[in-house]
Amino acid sequence: MSTDAIVMLKDEHQVILRAFRDFERAGDNAHKTKGDLVAKIVELLTVHTYIENEVMYPRVRELVPELEDDVLESYEEHHVADVLVMELVGMKPTDERFTAKTTVLIENVRHHIEEEEDEWFPQVREALGRKVLQEIGAEMVEARKTAPRSPAQPSALKKTVDAVLA
Ligand SMILES: [Fe+2]
Ligand SMILES: [Fe+2]
Repeated sequence: MSTDAIVMLKDEHQVILRAFRDFERAGDNAHKTKGDLVAKIVELLTVHTYIENEVMYPRVRELVPELEDDVLESYEEHHVADVLVMELVGMKPTDERFTAKTTVLIENVRHHIEEEEDEWFPQVREALGRKVLQEIGAEMVEARKTAPRSPAQPSALKKTVDAVLA
């Protein structure tokens, strides 16, 4: 298995985007399916965001200072997703705003993933090269082992708060 950090993150993006499509294809009244899919989306995003917040973003900030603004913007986009996720966790699939809120979450995260993949990950690859990306990937594999799976776990939000308040 490749431990290239960007390959790993893109693979996770594909899994996340697939869950988004499944949600969008579920029928209006498929409450059980939609509830299950949102639970899955929340877990996927919690783990993915944690790994980026804890490993990828700080390493890029340190090693590729010219991408500082992109990293800061990305932390903010994670924060917006975190807020929507926290609200969704408290809702039932039958709630009037459940689908609307999930749709806004999906739109935001899709845009965020596009920016990562099209705008600044290629610059990270260019600046760091294969060996460093593999080292970062190996750190991400480690971080994944202890990553929170639910936003209720305190470690899920910590880095974003640190980044915003620093
Ligand atoms: Fe991200
Ligand atoms: Fe990402």
